[in-house]
Amino acid sequence: MEEQRAHWSSSTGFVLAATGSAIGLGNLWKFPFITWENNGGAFVLVYLLCIAAVGLPIMMAELLIGRKTQKSVVGALKEAVGPAWGIVGLWGVLCGFILLSYYTVIAGWSLFYFTQTAGWTLGGVPEGLAIGDLFGQQVANSPLQFGLSLLFSVATVSVVYFGVQRGIERIARLFLPVLFGILVLLLVSALGMSGSGEALAFIFRPSFSELEPEGVLEALGHSFFTLSLGMGAMVTYGSYISRSQSIVKASAMIVLLDTVIALIASIIMFSVIFSVAGMAEQVGGSTVGMLFISLPELFYNEVPFGTVLGPLFYVLVALAALTSTMSLLEVVTSYVIDEHGVQRQIATIACGATVFIFTIFAAISFGNVPFFSTLALFDGKTGWFETADHFVSNWMLPTGGLAVTLAAGWFMTRQSTESELVDGTEPRWFRYGAWRLFIRFVAPLAVTAIIVAVFFFGADFS
Ligand code: PFF
Repeated sequence: MEEQRAHWSSSTGFVLAATGSAIGLGNLWKFPFITWENNGGAFVLVYLLCIAAVGLPIMMAELLIGRKTQKSVVGALKEAVGPAWGIVGLWGVLCGFILLSYYTVIAGWSLFYFTQTAGWTLGGVPEGLAIGDLFGQQVANSPLQFGLSLLFSVATVSVVYFGVQRGIERIARLFLPVLFGILVLLLVSALGMSGSGEALAFIFRPSFSELEPEGVLEALGHSFFTLSLGMGAMVTYGSYISRSQSIVKASAMIVLLDTVIALIASIIMFSVIFSVAGMAEQVGGSTVGMLFISLPELFYNEVPFGTVLGPLFYVLVALAALTSTMSLLEVVTSYVIDEHGVQRQIATIACGATVFIFTIFAAISFGNVPFFSTLALFDGKTGWFETADHFVSNWMLPTGGLAVTLAAGWFMTRQSTESELVDGTEPRWFRYGAWRLFIRFVAPLAVTAIIVAVFFFGADFS
């Protein structure tokens, strides 16, 4: 007997779960950093355009493929487009698998910084502690990395184990309001700092002479990562949407919330950075620098109410990461459930455990472990962690995204996509013709540009 497919309990439940997937380290960790690297304003404007012109149409495409077929990514593509497309689905599952394996490691760092900052708040910062050096020490400590990643993996598995409504949706309903609340507190505190004016000008005043062509592609590439597109996560979440919910409205809401949160995170970080003399010059170098090296120290020296906000900030990072890791594990798990008939609980534990083996490889990349810390497949990338990140961001997400645009725009019939988007629940502003134009022409051309830049010009978006 075939079991009934699980569904989100309501439209709000679904929007929160999908927004939880979208909001993650990409918003708090990557977006502020690439905005910084690309000199702010003009980059942000281009990013907003990419989100609207490419991200939103692909979000709708993934959700509609999921809802139409009521299957996870492999089955969905096979049914919606044709049996050969199962390969594209598998590519997505593999991408989810790899991304989850190293994303968990970064998520683990937030647990470490939470315990440290909570300790400093309660017991004071130890005399002579160089907070900035802590990052290098903790990543090089392989047993610690193993433990932190294990904790986070167990948390992820525990959510997905309980399924769509009782696991994923329930956690999203509980945690997203907390996440928004913490962000607002941080924003209020940041806006009170002396550098907030400069931060706002940096983010919102475009100066196009400062934007390199590569920055445009970076904005585009990031729009995939931040919206959880290109690997079937939204196809999978879409497969749990019921017929009475509007895909168009939900997509618009998810994209809007994700973008607002990325902007708020940037305002917070830049307000702090611009408030401290000499800080702007120090930030530079690495993506992790801002989140885990510069910020912890500043919470205790500069940020108003920083002793309370510091630990809360790392709670925020951990919650944002968890609502993303659970969607990644769901991509892999739902494939095993749907295509191989395995029961959810068993599938979740088996997939979680298998992914964790690769998480260990990423977790020990920063120590002194032969091969895992020295692997050098791509120019300028050392170790398993950086190699995996490079492969996913540059090769897997764009190719997966291109396949989805082609599937929805060129291989599915007009009638089959129209019936999902124009079903009486869509908002009045929505024009199917406009979506079709974007998904057939604008999005594939834009994504092809990324692929060409990576394949032929060695561009790097990781
Ligand atoms: N959107 C997440 C972020 O911005 O951190 C990353 C991500 C999560 C990508 C889940 C893909 C996915 F399926």
